[in-house]
Amino acid sequence: MYAGTATASVAAAALLGAGTLLMSSTTAAAPGTEARTADPLVIAHRGASAYAPENTLAAVDKADVLGFEWVENDVQLTRDGVLVVIHDTGLKRTTDAEEVFPDRAPWAVKDFTAAEIARLDAGSWFGPQYAGARVPTLRQYLRRIGRNQQNLLLEIKNPDTYPGIERATLRVLRQEGWLDRDHVRGRLVIQSFGAGSVRKVHEQRPDVITGLLGTPAAADLPSYAEFTDRINPAYTSISGEYVAAVHALKGPHGKRLQVNAWTVNDAEHALRVAGYGVDGIITNAPDVVREATGRPAGDTRARP
Ligand code: G3P
Ligand code: CA
Repeated sequence: MYAGTATASVAAAALLGAGTLLMSSTTAAAPGTEARTADPLVIAHRGASAYAPENTLAAVDKADVLGFEWVENDVQLTRDGVLVVIHDTGLKRTTDAEEVFPDRAPWAVKDFTAAEIARLDAGSWFGPQYAGARVPTLRQYLRRIGRNQQNLLLEIKNPDTYPGIERATLRVLRQEGWLDRDHVRGRLVIQSFGAGSVRKVHEQRPDVITGLLGTPAAADLPSYAEFTDRINPAYTSISGEYVAAVHALKGPHGKRLQVNAWTVNDAEHALRVAGYGVDGIITNAPDVVREATGRPAGDTRARP
């Protein structure tokens, strides 16, 4: 279990009553919104990245073992146009690129071919048991989460660095079967910090559910609601009022805009943002968030 979980569990128990009250009052104070879930969807950030190296197949497998269907990832383009799953613009932090390619500073993803990136160790930095883990291509990643029957919150990273990345991403998703009716209706969300990128995805595939990362001013939310179905903010930047303002709007598919807050890794903050009425929580430690906010085991009521 994630470091600090024991403390977090005690905090969760102590806060449970307060959290429930917060949830009730938030629901009552959100006129015009639908009844919201008391148990936000839990999304494993970069996979279960508290326990396995982020954005690797090991991290999505760990999320699967822990029982989490939704995983988040970050997608960028190599020099030869292959989509790979990695968070940073550079390879240094999460791979051994400096050792393998000592003369290739600053080790930017965009300067390496897919074949070169495939040689890198993306696991040893996290722990010796993960030595040999690779930076997956998006195709490899989709096949693995497909096999695990998981769902994907895909982030298009640094879209300004990669002209055409939206079309390239949609092409791979389509070729891998991720744009069929089943996936598009509820197993895939594409998000980005770049509003222009989110708009492009919506224009190119209007059926795909999209998300805008960040916390736009409440006054600007209606213009974003024309092309995004989710507003996904840093949890530190929101309040119950902000979540209610998002919920008061409908997105391009005629459904209430949703909020998925990131990156919440402890019980206290999970309960706090659940109290704000968020629809989802993006977390490195999904088990911690589920323990704090989830329904009891065996409760199989359908999600509203
Ligand atoms: O999914 C939300 C979150 O991943 C955005 O921030 O920097 O972790 O990609 P970052
Ligand atoms: Ca991300």
